[in-house]
Parts: sequence; C-alpha cells; structure tokens
Amino acid sequence: MIRYGILSTASIVGRFIAGIKESQAGEVYAIASRTVAKAKEAALQYDIKNYYGSYEELYEDENIDVIYIPTVNGLHYRDCQNALLHHKHVIVEKPFTLTSIEAQKLFDLAKQNQCFLMEAQKCVFLPTTLQLKKLIEQNVIGDIRYIELKAGFPGRFDYDHWMYDLSMGGGALYGSATYTIELMQFLFDNPHFQIDGSCIKCPTGSDEICNFQLKMNHQILVSSTIAMNVPLKNEAVFYGDKGYIVIPNYWKSNHLDIYFHNGETKHYDFPYQSEFVYEINHIHECLKQQLLTSPIMTPARTMEATHLVETLYQKWQEDTNE
Ligand SMILES: NC(=O)c1ccc[n+]([C@@H]2O[C@H](COP(=O)([O-])OP(=O)(O)OC[C@H]3O[C@@H](n4cnc5c(N)ncnc54)[C@H](OP(=O)(O)O)[C@@H]3O)[C@@H](O)[C@H]2O)c1
Repeated sequence: MIRYGILSTASIVGRFIAGIKESQAGEVYAIASRTVAKAKEAALQYDIKNYYGSYEELYEDENIDVIYIPTVNGLHYRDCQNALLHHKHVIVEKPFTLTSIEAQKLFDLAKQNQCFLMEAQKCVFLPTTLQLKKLIEQNVIGDIRYIELKAGFPGRFDYDHWMYDLSMGGGALYGSATYTIELMQFLFDNPHFQIDGSCIKCPTGSDEICNFQLKMNHQILVSSTIAMNVPLKNEAVFYGDKGYIVIPNYWKSNHLDIYFHNGETKHYDFPYQSEFVYEINHIHECLKQQLLTSPIMTPARTMEATHLVETLYQKWQEDTNE
C-alpha cells in the first residue's frame, strides 16, 4: 500500500481522501495541521489513525511515502520544498507555485532527491476529458475555432479570506486558470499559446473577476472567464463547424453533450464516486514504475501554466502602476 500524509485540514482534503480510499492501492497514514486540535478533529472525521499538530512531524514520519499538499496557494512552494527535503514523494495542489522560478526549483530538487513530484490536476484524468479528447481527435464536430469556458463561485469567501489576498496566491486567476490552460495542453497536445486578458480587482487588490484569452497554434481562440462575484454558468463549450460540445463543470465533469448543427444530439455519461480517483490511480502507476515525474501532468506543462498565469499578473500589476 502507498501511504499518504495529508498536509493541512484544507476543505478539499475530504474529497482527496475519498479518492485515495476508492483507489485501493493507497491509504491515508496521517494528517497534520498547524494545531493539534484541528488535526485530531480531522483524523476523527476521516478515520485516520495518526495526526500531528505541526507540519514538521508529518515530514519526519518515516512511514509516509507521499505527501499531499493542499495548503494556501502562496505556501505551496515552502511546503513542497520541506517535504522534498525530507525525501518524500509530493503531490501539490494547483496552482503549483506562484512563479515559474519556484516551480523549476522544486522539480530540480525532486530530481536531485529522487522523489516523484506532480501538480494535482484531476481534470486531465477524468473519463469525460478522455472522451472529449477522442471526440476532438476524431473531428466529430469538425474544425474547432473557438472554445469558451466559464467558472463562477460567488459568495464563497469573505474579503479577509486568503482567496482575496494576492500575496497568498488568492485571486480568480490563481484560483482556476490552470484548469483551462492544462486542459488545453492535454486536449491539443501542447499547443503554442499566446495569452492576453484583463480583470477587475476588488478592494483587497486581488482579481475578483478575470477573463483571459489563449490563442492556440494561431488557429483557435479560447476565452476563459473566472468570477468570484458572479454566478456564471459553469461550463466549457467547444465550437466546431459541424456542431458544439458542452461540458458542465469542466474541471470535475461526469458527462458531456454534443449538439450537431443538423439537429442531432449525443449524450455521454461517466458516473464516478470520487473525481480524484483517476488522478490518484495515475500517481500509483507512476510510483509503481518508479517514475519521478508524470508523463501526463509533466513538469513542462506545469511550468508553462505557471508562467502564463505569472505573465498576466505582471501585466495587471503594471496596468495598476500606470
Ligand atoms: N483540485 C481541486 O479540485 C481543488 C479544489 C479546491 C481547492 N484546491 C486547491 O487546494 C488548496 C486548498 O484549497 P482549500 O479551498 O481547500 O483551502 P482552505 O480550506 O482555505 O485550506 C487551506 C489550508 O491551508 C492551511 N494553512 C497553512 N497556513 C495558512 C495560513 N496562513 N492561512 C490559512 N490557511 C493556512 C490550513 O490548514 P491547517 O490549519 O490545518 O494547518 C488551511 O486549512 C488550494 O491550493 C486550492 O487551489 C483544489
């Protein structure tokens, strides 16, 4: 069994643990929090035998093979570096780091210490995404020229939450842009990207709503809107010359629909219990093969996504200073 240590009691933890349990090749060995009371409560909630009141104790536990890092975005670099320095394999939640220099340093350190390192990006492992890729490759809706993605999660956080603190990696773009970018990398086999975009900031200075465009291979335009203040219809739509494909909740979707211009429709269902199990099975396969990086969520893809997001934030920073 592959033994996981869970770093923090983040809200996402329960869903990741459900994926580990469903995978059957993994078990959750321990959970750590900044306070022992929170760690104990989470251990009881998720039925985990061991818990620690500091992250350091988790890094030092020799029974743990893999550390899962879902801390606040701005601390991923620090926490991943610490785990790698303790020779653990590491899965880091998206966005991997806030800068591409940090991302490169982590992949270098992982290689040096012979540890597996991957950004957690469940979207590219979902059966729905695999079906979508097949449909695109088979040209089922004809030539695709435009793709639109929308994700809105209004009212989830107050302005004093870290999701509204840019220095902690808060903001709409940090929050969800990698879903769009890494989905496109996967579906279109590493296209050439040009990025542009704009945002509206809230009083804390972070982007509350943003829209960015990816021009792919000079042929396809992708428009992606992420809003923390607007209840958008959460979906991705791929427009081809024979019809269009709609994928609701594209980052965790379990179904998709095709609408052909001749009036025909087609529906695909991919029911799952945990949307994380596919990603976790892939991690186990990589570990079994003693790989240090994933052949799907590659360091190159993570580095590129990190760089594109960083580029836009730099642009928005300069715009503010004008
Ligand atoms: N893949 C996905 O589907 C998915 C979905 C949602 C979120 N995420 C990612 O998962 C990560 C966590 O997101 P979340 O929404 O679950 O976050 P969250 O509930 O706010 O949890 C973040 C955790 O970070 C720890 N932490 C350490 N230092 C902190 C600080 N200074 N301030 C606040 N918390 C601190 C806390 O754990 P302790 O107090 O226990 O130490 C806290 O529980 C993010 O990177 C996010 O992008 C991924």
